Amino acid sequence: MKLVQITDLHVASEGEFTHGVDVRQNFLDIIQAVKSFAPEHLIITGDLAFDTANEEVYRWMKSHLDALGIPYSVIAGNHDTSSILAKVFQLEHHFADGDLYYKLQLGDRSLLLLETSMGTVSAAQQAWLTKELSAIDGPALVFMHHPPVVGGVAYMDTNYPLRNMGEVQAILHAHPHPVYIFCGHYHVEKMICSRNIVVHITPTTYFQMKWQQPVFELDNLKIALREIVLRDDGTVESTVVYYEGNKK
Ligand SMILES: [Fe+2]
Repeated sequence: MKLVQITDLHVASEGEFTHGVDVRQNFLDIIQAVKSFAPEHLIITGDLAFDTANEEVYRWMKSHLDALGIPYSVIAGNHDTSSILAKVFQLEHHFADGDLYYKLQLGDRSLLLLETSMGTVSAAQQAWLTKELSAIDGPALVFMHHPPVVGGVAYMDTNYPLRNMGEVQAILHAHPHPVYIFCGHYHVEKMICSRNIVVHITPTTYFQMKWQQPVFELDNLKIALREIVLRDDGTVESTVVYYEGNKK
């Protein structure tokens, strides 16, 4: 089974200042690239909004995603507002107590989509994650915006980490099989292993940042998607593919 993940789209309103990046064209280009992979499902791991949630922008994105003809799922990032995302993308049945999270069943694979728009995984979500993982007798797949580990990106680890990553790691480490995590938020490409956890941080469709120093520095304006192949034996392969970004 083939999936594609895209993340941190940061789509702005028409005319909004976006530091010289044409984020709307980047979004249009990346979803056409997604189409060329013909995945069974597309997962968007948050920060659809440029800075703050905008219902009109969400509706514009939804119209283009619907036209692709590929089933897709969205979760919120720290620049999104989960209630507005749930309303526009008709996910209100998965929205409770400020959290938008749910299980995506694809054939016999259960994908767990978590909410971290407030920079934490709530107690209710932790209980849900524990219960859902216990029902998976094999490798598990989790999609979330924030990496649940220190990412080795000093600027992000210091300023914008998942604040209760220790609690989340305890739940993930308790799974007696590998847990493959696909996230974004850090604007870099990285893979980090922690015991049974394999965390894939996927680059964005806005900009990539340098990870080597503690202050923010732009790396490049390429955009990317991640192809994910779920093998029948439970193993997971993934590849990041880059494209030229659009400047304004
Ligand atoms: Fe983010």
